[in-house]
Amino acid sequence: MRSRQLEVADPAFPNEKTARKQAERQLLLDALSGGLDAADIEWAPDNGNAIAPALLASQRLQLRPWTDADREPFAAMTADPEVMRHFPAVLTREQSDAWIDRMSRKISERGWGLWAMDYLAEGALAPQFAGFTGLNIPDPELPCGPCAEVGWRLAPRFWGLGLASEAGSLSLRAGFESLRLEEIVAVTTLRNTRSRAVMQRLGMQESMVDEFDHPAFPPDSAERRCCVYRLPRARWLASLQIAAERPMPC
Ligand SMILES: CC(C)(COP(=O)(O)OP(=O)(O)OC[C@H]1O[C@@H](n2cnc3c(N)ncnc32)[C@H](O)[C@@H]1OP(=O)(O)O)[C@@H](O)C(=O)NCCC(=O)NCCS
Repeated sequence: MRSRQLEVADPAFPNEKTARKQAERQLLLDALSGGLDAADIEWAPDNGNAIAPALLASQRLQLRPWTDADREPFAAMTADPEVMRHFPAVLTREQSDAWIDRMSRKISERGWGLWAMDYLAEGALAPQFAGFTGLNIPDPELPCGPCAEVGWRLAPRFWGLGLASEAGSLSLRAGFESLRLEEIVAVTTLRNTRSRAVMQRLGMQESMVDEFDHPAFPPDSAERRCCVYRLPRARWLASLQIAAERPMPC
């Protein structure tokens, strides 16, 4: 794996506080522009960039690479207007399969991405595909880009169980502990209150100055306005500390 030298201060990032953060953004830019083979990126010099499966599992859910068995339920999910209410359009079967192909490639190249999610209900004999949660690099042209984001999409029968928040929390840990990211953002439309509630439950804070109109929506779309929630590594670490110091219930 090739490691890259930190570059001198880049005038494109006048507000960056540390060379580390600036270099991390440069890696994202390189990966996105196709100028660097993603497999070469040294995301985590200490640990390598593959995330241990144990970090991506809890008692009732697991994040994992995609399989062919996921194609059918994923297509049904992304063809559901309720699930895709805050997106520009539902996906056709072809688009849904192409999405899985793209994401599978990214996960095998980088070691991380938006993982398929299995849910093991209490008393159930086998886990069920519930949707996805994980880490992603959004379009670098977005005003908040380049950055790493956490994202989720679940089939409606798995809403209201706390699964997105739990899987989001595992993804944040993977991003901060294994990939050593300095910050993780989350982006959604202003109207997507369910998704915004997950961001808040994860301790992310809305950054009003980052609000923007998403170019994927038509100019007259009520969904066009998007908000950005941010979670710097330091705040995530502090929240772990607070949780550890909280007295255990008797
Ligand atoms: C966004 C989305 C993932 C949120 O799912 P969700 O189930 O509402 O979110 P959570 O997993 O955090 O679950 C929280 C709910 O579970 C409840 N809950 C039940 N058991 C729980 C448990 N053990 N732990 C935590 N919460 C629990 C909470 O009280 C909360 O209920 P509420 O919705 O009545 O307030 C889902 O609505 C979705 O997939 N939407 C479509 C796709 C989409 O818009 N994706 C986001 C694009 S940015």
